[in-house]
Amino acid sequence: MKSAEYIANLWRSTRSTLFRRLFLDRQAEFWVREIDPVHTLTGIRAQVVDVIAETDDTKSFVLRPNAAWRGHRAGQSTLVEVEIDGVRVHRFYSISSAPGQALISITVKRVPGGRVSSWLHQHVGVGHVVGLGPASGDFVLPTPISARLLLLSGGSGITPVMSMLRDLAARSAIEDVAFVHYARTRADVIFGDELEDLAARHAGLRLIVCVDDDDDAPRGFDEAHLAALVPDFAERSTFLCGPGALMDRVEKLWADVGASHHLQRERFVAAPLFTPLVASGEGVDVRLSRSQRRVVTRGAGTLLEQLEGAGERPANGCRMGICRTCTCLKHSGTVENLVTGEVSSEPDQEIQLCISVPRSDLELDL
Ligand SMILES: Cc1cc2nc3c(=O)[nH]c(=O)nc-3n(C[C@H](O)[C@H](O)[C@H](O)COP(=O)(O)OP(=O)(O)OC[C@H]3O[C@@H](n4cnc5c(N)ncnc54)[C@H](O)[C@@H]3O)c2cc1C
Ligand code: FES
Repeated sequence: MKSAEYIANLWRSTRSTLFRRLFLDRQAEFWVREIDPVHTLTGIRAQVVDVIAETDDTKSFVLRPNAAWRGHRAGQSTLVEVEIDGVRVHRFYSISSAPGQALISITVKRVPGGRVSSWLHQHVGVGHVVGLGPASGDFVLPTPISARLLLLSGGSGITPVMSMLRDLAARSAIEDVAFVHYARTRADVIFGDELEDLAARHAGLRLIVCVDDDDDAPRGFDEAHLAALVPDFAERSTFLCGPGALMDRVEKLWADVGASHHLQRERFVAAPLFTPLVASGEGVDVRLSRSQRRVVTRGAGTLLEQLEGAGERPANGCRMGICRTCTCLKHSGTVENLVTGEVSSEPDQEIQLCISVPRSDLELDL
């Protein structure tokens, strides 16, 4: 009896301590943010200190992160959190600046109709505060740095490899670097002036910019052409980031010459390995058990896109099956995973909304 009373008292005191702790922590967090919006007791936040228009549709946001930021390795990305119409939304962005500096930058291309990139372009200026995740990803230069490197990028895919180049330059470690970049026009080349400047100052950097609107410059990607420009490409430690079509062709070329083991790559947009077994597009009845709502989703996109199309705002980050932010419990129904091809029909299975398509009516824990 005594021990039951003791346990009950212990639980009561632990519970009240926990509630007090939680309440005080929240209060402290509130006041810390009121005094200085970049400081927080619980996460990484950063203030925008400069916005640089790189091209017509690309801006760099220079950020001053708080003390919770632990730095990054060249090539890594961070999960940026912004609040749009009262909803927290996340997207990954590569860090385009070199490591080891107090300020970091992300460089964002505005995707037509894109929710976060458009919002950043239209609404975020100097003084704004955004949330960040810790730097992550294994798209990084090897240690020690390989003597012969090929940095290969297209469009906004230049951002992680630019961080690598800036890092190498800061460490005076540009020994034999071929930097090949593809853009539609000369005006679309992000960091164009800085690249020219680096090439002029570093004898070990060979800069090849391919654009479609300049007769004096090489044009868009072509296998034979790349092999002519960089004859030893298959022996170079290569870092690739760009649009899906460019990446697919480069991956195939490297595979054909047996050099895939030299190729590191970063994709901004997932390449689904499987196409859905049944054509989506018909209405799917989705019951959301937590919010007690019911929506009919339509369209050929992922479950995440379909729910967003129906006005829902499920948590998400990378939108390509990496970060698991969108993982949710499926109570009933069938979905197909676009990356693995697995079909989940069992009740109460975890699914990732961003890489799943519905194959029946569903009940989700949302
Ligand atoms: C690891 C990683 C690093 C990244 N780094 C960068 C970076 O440095 N700079 C940058 O600009 N973006 C980067 N991205 C892409 C970024 O996370 C967003 O996907 C992009 O900004 C679009 O988001 P959105 O909310 O504007 O568009 P959404 O509203 O999410 O998408 C709208 C439509 O655009 C399509 N779409 C999404 N991204 C692209 C794209 N890049 N090109 C063409 N179509 C697209 C979607 O499939 C969708 O149909 C990175 C992504 C990952 C996973
Ligand atoms: S949003 Fe990152 S795994 Fe789905």
